[in-house]
Amino acid sequence: MDAIRWEGNTLYLLDQTKLPVTEVWLPYTDYRPVADAIRTMVVRGAPAIGVAAAYAYCLAALAGEGLDEAKETLAASRPTAVNLFWALERMERKAKECGGAAEPLIAEAKAIHAEDVAMCRAMGAHGAAVVPEHARILTHCNAGALATGGYGTALGVIRAAHEAGKVNMVYCDETRPLLQGARLTAYELVSDHIPATLMAKGKIDLAVVGCDRMAANGDFANKIGTYSVAVNAHYHGIPFYVALPCSTIDLSLADGSGIPIEERDGEEIKTMWYEKPMALPEVKCYNPAFDVTDHELIAGIVTEKGICRPPYTKSLKALFDDKK
Ligand code: MRU
Repeated sequence: MDAIRWEGNTLYLLDQTKLPVTEVWLPYTDYRPVADAIRTMVVRGAPAIGVAAAYAYCLAALAGEGLDEAKETLAASRPTAVNLFWALERMERKAKECGGAAEPLIAEAKAIHAEDVAMCRAMGAHGAAVVPEHARILTHCNAGALATGGYGTALGVIRAAHEAGKVNMVYCDETRPLLQGARLTAYELVSDHIPATLMAKGKIDLAVVGCDRMAANGDFANKIGTYSVAVNAHYHGIPFYVALPCSTIDLSLADGSGIPIEERDGEEIKTMWYEKPMALPEVKCYNPAFDVTDHELIAGIVTEKGICRPPYTKSLKALFDDKK
């Protein structure tokens, strides 16, 4: 399963707002509608946003348009997932090196895409090792192939554990208002014949989630509700893991208090995603898309280079000192 393709100088995005009922691939030859696609969540998930933005940057180069302006427009689409800024900065470095020529930029975007899939597979291999036999695993939001270049971070761990015959059931809990659990995660798992249940009540052996941005001490932002999962896991003594590529780590932030949290239109909660109103018009809405989970609640951080254990300030820094 994938959600991003580059064919014949056109970017194609699988419209995730239409899943699971309709699979529509939308073509893009202009970077501006790609910024809108990120904002409106046609494409979503931290690494996937980075990959889409890298290709959109190539669209600007192909059209001979200003790359600074393209970078600025794309960077303004969503604030929390650091992969967006990471990918755009990498594209900008490449543009300086190649004088803005389209072909080398396309090669760079393809490399970002391919590396993301490889990192997810490596994370899967490392993460599967901590999954017990016959595991019942909880995951939050969608951190799968749809949210990355392919394969997934948290779902990458689950896919690899399933390939190793260790997964009895995956519980997909829910994320309001976009229902990524039912619409995206359960859709991916069922397509891959991995047993999936929408969470109501069940016994959980392990929780694994994705991440949009992690600070130097291991505090991290992920889809709203992740913090509650972490607190509950901690209370019940269930190991809680987070899976992410190094491109999601922001060492410039000492802790989670500095992570910018996107606040989305309250209408998403009240009406936008549903056929009938879900609340009375006079009800006020506060709609942050992410929350921040304290590093003390994490059993381990699964990356493409291995699993980081506490103290995270030290183990996360070591990932970047290591030139592998
Ligand atoms: O608002 P979304 O759907 O983009 O949020 C996605 C998440 O929070 C994911 O868990 C996170 O980006 C990790 S994706 C591999």
